[in-house]
Amino acid sequence: MMVQVQLHCLCLFTLYLTTGYGQEGRFSGPLKPMTFSIFEGQEESQIIFQFKSSPPAVTFKLSGETDGIFHIQDGLLYHSRALDRETRAVHKLQVSALDAYGATVEGPVPITIEVKDINDNRPVFLQSKYEGSVRQNSRPGSNIGTLVAHDMDEANTINSVLEYRIVDQTPKSPREGLFLVQAYTGVFQLALYSLKKQDTPQYQLTVEVSDKDFKTLCHVQINVIDINDQIPIFEKSDYGNLTLAEDTVVGSIILVIQATDADEPFTGSSKILYRITQGDSEGRLGIDTDPQTNTGYVMIKKPLDFETAAIHNIVFQAENPEPLVPGVEYNASSFATFNLFVTDVNEAPRFSQQVFQAKVSEDVAIGTKVGNVTAKDPEGLDISYSLRGDMRGWLKIDPVTGEIFSVAPLDREAESLYRVQVVATEVGGSSLSSIASFHLTLTDVNDNPPRLVKEYTGLLFCYPLREAGSLIFEATDDDQQSLQGPHFTFSLGSESLQNDWEVSKINGTHARLSTKHTGFEERVYNIPILINDGGQPPLEGTVSLPGMILAVVFIQMKNKGRDNVENAQASEVKPLRN
Ligand SMILES: *[C@@H]1O[C@H](CO)[C@@H](O)[C@H](O)[C@H]1NC(C)=O
Ligand SMILES: *[C@@H]1O[C@H](CO)[C@@H](O)[C@H](O)[C@H]1NC(C)=O
Ligand SMILES: *[C@@H]1O[C@H](CO)[C@@H](O)[C@H](O)[C@H]1NC(C)=O
Ligand SMILES: *[C@@H]1O[C@H](CO)[C@@H](O)[C@H](O)[C@H]1NC(C)=O
Repeated sequence: MMVQVQLHCLCLFTLYLTTGYGQEGRFSGPLKPMTFSIFEGQEESQIIFQFKSSPPAVTFKLSGETDGIFHIQDGLLYHSRALDRETRAVHKLQVSALDAYGATVEGPVPITIEVKDINDNRPVFLQSKYEGSVRQNSRPGSNIGTLVAHDMDEANTINSVLEYRIVDQTPKSPREGLFLVQAYTGVFQLALYSLKKQDTPQYQLTVEVSDKDFKTLCHVQINVIDINDQIPIFEKSDYGNLTLAEDTVVGSIILVIQATDADEPFTGSSKILYRITQGDSEGRLGIDTDPQTNTGYVMIKKPLDFETAAIHNIVFQAENPEPLVPGVEYNASSFATFNLFVTDVNEAPRFSQQVFQAKVSEDVAIGTKVGNVTAKDPEGLDISYSLRGDMRGWLKIDPVTGEIFSVAPLDREAESLYRVQVVATEVGGSSLSSIASFHLTLTDVNDNPPRLVKEYTGLLFCYPLREAGSLIFEATDDDQQSLQGPHFTFSLGSESLQNDWEVSKINGTHARLSTKHTGFEERVYNIPILINDGGQPPLEGTVSLPGMILAVVFIQMKNKGRDNVENAQASEVKPLRN
């Protein structure tokens, strides 16, 4: 109620003004489309216009983008709060005139309120903290990055013109003003001269952005980055002479070398890799670098050899894993020399290979040469060969030539791969010896006749025979078989048996022996069967299968207090005829 009273006072005052100045059309007038410009941020309860009604209109109604700020009462259009251009720059309103019954008499007509900018927003940085980096040899004027600030006030007016400035640099060494920021673009640059990471690795800066009334600060961190502009330098250019016996143990460290690099520690710019560029084409030496100290340990990786390389004139190079910056190159200070003299040690003979292999047929004649081995003494002494582990006594070796001969019949079925050791001993000197293996593969010849896989108990029939019977049997062979297995053929061992017995093949290994009639005597028949392996040359075996035509046997077993009748083996046998 209080507000309303005040409002009325204001209205009256304004009306007085309008009428007083008689400026109809500026402050009051009939309903028609109109545009007003009002500064944002002004005090509340400002009257904008008074609409005059013409009968039968009695009241006015306001609609559109009022945002709860614009109102109309008794024809007075006013705003009850300060306007904000950054919230809404233009309000589109409509005003209608109503009669006493609330029906629209006039309008709606558009009323446009333009909100004019004042500098009521402070500039803000897009980020509160910026980080940039500069390589340590960069020239003054190099761009490091761009700072971006923003002001909500109307673009392209004095209210939104921003200006950047560095207000602080920490540390101030080697001096202040090392960086600059372009006042109107925010471009951040190196100002005075190239920086060195060794001097100061990092700078903290405070940058201010301002419009005509406000200032905002932000924090900028600049890292100085190292580059590989220093080469490794050897502590000395010549590591002198060293004499080692050729049997010096593999893995021994024989020399310690050292180079230093002034680039930033523990980076690829200062880490050192040592290479041998001359004097070790066989790679007998290797160099490990201690990552903490860049010390190089030269060690033996493969056995030294007086006979092939008695002198090594070595050149070491120290390198960085990272490439050098253009313009910087390795020079003589990154190289060092070293002489390694290898002395002779009497060594055992060496076989030309560790395993010698040969292949012969298992039926070679006694005295055949089956293979040969070769060894040489590094010092050029004569060699005497001998055999070891010839468990079957099959072989002998010529002590002078290393040729190996058979001295007994060989048998693949006993040893398909016969392994012995050959020993080479130097003649004279320290009688040093070394050992290699000789593997003799025996290839198969068909030297085993077929046989039965097991013993067959034969055909067992009750006498007299009631019907024909048969027995299936299986044959095998000890020779090497093809993948498809053996292909035996089967036949009766004697033509005279053909009236009573018959052999029929089932497949390569199995056949069936059967009776041809039932008129057999009560006795055991031994039936010879011929089995042929069809090999090269074909081998035939004769086996005998028993055909038993016997009376049925009942076996009585006496068990404690119990009489049992079974047809099984027993202690008391009583043959019965049926
Ligand atoms: C190293 O050996 C070479 C060649 O034998 C010799 O000329 C030189 O004097 C030796 N250096 C040292 C320091 O013994
Ligand atoms: C190699 O270059 C370094 C500087 O990078 C210098 O100190 C040194 O004397 C040079 N060595 C030679 C042999 O030129
Ligand atoms: C066997 O002797 C012959 C000559 O006699 C030779 O060419 C061959 O290399 C020797 N074989 C082996 C394995 O030593
Ligand atoms: C040959 O026949 C026997 C008896 O029928 C059988 O058990 C066996 O598996 C057969 N063998 C082959 C290779 O077919």
